[in-house]
Amino acid sequence: MIQLFHVTKYYEGCIALSDLSLRVDKGECILITGPSGAGKTTLLKLIFGAEFPDDGQILVQNRNIARLRATDIPYLRRTMGFVLQDFKLLPHKTVYENVELPLIIRGLSSFDARRKVAESLQSVGMDHKRTTQTSVLSAGEQQRVCIARAIVNSPIILLADEPTGNLDPQLTYEISELFKAIHARGTTVMLATHNRQVVEQINGRMIKLDCGRLLSDQGTLS
Ligand SMILES: Nc1ncnc2c1ncn2[C@@H]1O[C@H](COP(=O)(O)OP(=O)(O)OP(=O)(O)O)[C@@H](O)[C@H]1O
Ligand SMILES: [Mg+2]
Repeated sequence: MIQLFHVTKYYEGCIALSDLSLRVDKGECILITGPSGAGKTTLLKLIFGAEFPDDGQILVQNRNIARLRATDIPYLRRTMGFVLQDFKLLPHKTVYENVELPLIIRGLSSFDARRKVAESLQSVGMDHKRTTQTSVLSAGEQQRVCIARAIVNSPIILLADEPTGNLDPQLTYEISELFKAIHARGTTVMLATHNRQVVEQINGRMIKLDCGRLLSDQGTLS
């Protein structure tokens, strides 16, 4: 599903990822942990094709990301959902409009998008707020809308960057349960987090990064 071979990524004088090799199979749930600056976000961005490696290869669903034409990247991204570290919701649009947007970009009519948006909002428990502007939602509600937006295209791979960032333990619990349910439906999940509660609750394959290097990988230990 996802394979990295000796991937290195530099940013102006700093190494964000160093000689990283990793294989993720279909249906796995990966928890990426490690201190701030370890390279967690960089790893997710590389898999999403939002950044490109300086060295090494990345295969996502058997396609070499670095060799894809710029025009092919959107097609690959349609098979992936990305829950970003900062919400990046459109504040003056409603919950419904935010979740509908990826489908409209993909070329669906509002009519055809309706069922998918409704299902997605129901699965995160936000259907009752569909007409509310996202700017007035609580942090936990905004995060749930982000997850709904990331899964509305029925992605094969769901990437999530600190999805419980500033949430309290109860909301962290609810969001973690949501990821477990999405994974249980067959989606391959890769989630970066500092949060011990998330790691314990989700109980996936833990990958530890430090200074851009792979410190440990439960997948290769067992
Ligand atoms: N756009 C950028 N320009 C310059 N340096 C960057 C850029 N993005 C990341 N870096 C650097 O790359 C390294 C890895 O950053 P990354 O954001 O991947 O870490 P992280 O593990 O996600 O950290 P955090 O837990 O704080 O989110 C850091 O040293 C960071 O300063
Ligand atoms: Mg990060």
